[in-house]
Amino acid sequence: MFEIVSFFHYWLNRVDEHSLHSPFVYNLFTEVISRPNAKDNEIEFLRQQLRYSKKAIEVVDFGAGSKLTKKTNRSIGGIAKHASTPSKFSRFLSKTIDHFGFCNIVELGTSLGLNALYLSQNQNTQVTTFEGDPTIAQLAQGHFEAFGRKKVNTIVGNIDSTLPQYIDALNPIDLAYLDANHRYSPTLNYYELIQPMTHDKSMIVIDDIHWSKEMNKAWLELKDRPEVTLSIDLFEAGLLFFDPKLEKADYILKF
Ligand SMILES: C[S@@+](CC[C@H](N)C(=O)[O-])C[C@H]1O[C@@H](n2cnc3c(N)ncnc32)[C@H](O)[C@@H]1O
Repeated sequence: MFEIVSFFHYWLNRVDEHSLHSPFVYNLFTEVISRPNAKDNEIEFLRQQLRYSKKAIEVVDFGAGSKLTKKTNRSIGGIAKHASTPSKFSRFLSKTIDHFGFCNIVELGTSLGLNALYLSQNQNTQVTTFEGDPTIAQLAQGHFEAFGRKKVNTIVGNIDSTLPQYIDALNPIDLAYLDANHRYSPTLNYYELIQPMTHDKSMIVIDDIHWSKEMNKAWLELKDRPEVTLSIDLFEAGLLFFDPKLEKADYILKF
């Protein structure tokens, strides 16, 4: 219910390029948000194969879990269908990487690795992706190897402990995509660890900001932080920018 009401609010308030006065946001909207990269046939073929897989695996979920099932025995098909970053959003992130020339990318929540395959399309990127469940991480690792993605590093374990352990080595972070533990405190904690490792031109993406009341609360607080100069709500996720040269603004954009 919360997501439906939130979507209605988003739908009523979202704007497109005709309402944008900031040149930075106008460019971002016209060149990236409304024109995500094309579908990658190989990644989409893998997505389809995974969606049809009935193979079941035992999973350990360190996050907020699924709204659809509390079972620890899940089919790979179910994970691919319900817990993967949608293709359009992955293609938007891939376009963002090309547009801004991002190199050092961090993803919290690897799952089967479909999104990390898009994040690592550009050969200049070094992707570090974090996953709690060892079986899922192993499947993702297999996909990275099959696609020859040598610059994807998978860190396995609960992000609550792995992120503090690895954070110094990730400096400087150009793009961070938080798509793991969809809860209020972990979201704020992960942001607190990551943000000091970013720079003026970085972007932090918080996924599923309208998934629940607590995620919405986390989003409202994060976009209000003094270091955030620009925030953009795409419903699927929220984007945070830190460039002091940008005029402080908060947008809801059509995606
Ligand atoms: C929504 S899925 C990520 C989807 C992924 N970005 C993709 O390519 O489709 C979230 C993932 O985060 C993992 N996760 C959730 N909380 C975690 C935590 N505290 N530590 C490590 N992994 C976690 C889950 O196991 C799950 O695989």
